[in-house]
Amino acid sequence: MENEVQKKRILSGIQPSGDLTLGSYLGAIKNWAALADEYDCYYMLADMHTITVRQVPAELRRHTLTQVAAYIASGLDPEKNVLFVQSHVPAHAQLGWVLDCYTMFGELSRMTQFKDKSAKNADNINAGLFTYPALMAADILLYQADLVPVGGDQKQHVEICRDIATRFNGIYGDTFKLPDPYIPQVGARVMSLTSPEKKMSKSDKDPNGCVYMLEKPEDILRKFKRAITDSDTERCVRFDRENKPGVSNLMQIYAVATGKSFETIEQEFAGHGYGDFKQAVGESVVELLRPIREETERLLADKSYLESVYRAGAEKAAYVANRTLNKVYKKVGFLPR
Ligand code: TRP
Repeated sequence: MENEVQKKRILSGIQPSGDLTLGSYLGAIKNWAALADEYDCYYMLADMHTITVRQVPAELRRHTLTQVAAYIASGLDPEKNVLFVQSHVPAHAQLGWVLDCYTMFGELSRMTQFKDKSAKNADNINAGLFTYPALMAADILLYQADLVPVGGDQKQHVEICRDIATRFNGIYGDTFKLPDPYIPQVGARVMSLTSPEKKMSKSDKDPNGCVYMLEKPEDILRKFKRAITDSDTERCVRFDRENKPGVSNLMQIYAVATGKSFETIEQEFAGHGYGDFKQAVGESVVELLRPIREETERLLADKSYLESVYRAGAEKAAYVANRTLNKVYKKVGFLPR
């Protein structure tokens, strides 16, 4: 009990904007499951961030519920991790507004994700898309998180979160803990199977570039069979991100799926064609994901259990979040209720 109080706190989140990908699993969720003993972990489904891009309501609901099931099926034990839906904890919206007032137009304008997303959604450059980082800062600061596991594309958002917290603390005295990004060493970045210079993403236009966590085995195998390797003349399986991005991405996936080292993999496929290699990678991914898909399906058939998980999660999260929110409300001068 005693050292539980001293555990460092982790918060992270994924938007339920679509089906979870192999990239989200290997790059994030799989690593999260291993952190529960050492850290006090909060994992959120960032549905409020999701509506910065237009969604089909029924799909958003389905993705959110499926994502809760997939988190649990991936080994995030709801007894050891706080799993919750962002919109179930009103403090996120409440602190988000306050932080909007401590976030500068200029700094938001510099966010690369804002620039990318406004280019992609030119007909819907809404204020939420612009102030997205202030809401994300609220997500993190509400929990006084020490570490925020994120992919490289979110590092800038953790940095602006620190800037906002520093600004607020500077005006009102110590209020927020400054979080650090936590970028896992292995398997952090799974690239598209068809354009390995880009991150594997559910918003990828090419459906063959992205493998989904809950996808059928035959579809997974087909996508790996079609994965691009490399056009260099040296047709061998060797890890070299720069000159062999396709092969290196597949090696990375295979290494994480099987636990084999790059050296072992190079030996295993010495003298084999890329065809054998891609088949083996595909099979390893099918086997890796099979139990998770089956468990997710089982959980989705038990809606009342899933409800009990996210309700309990929201309650635990709200307890912590409201303590921070109350402090903030007092500091900025809101009249107590
Ligand atoms: N912006 C993150 C993404 O799109 C999701 C997210 C929202 C998040 N709030 C967060 C991640 C807080 C870490 C911490 O990937």
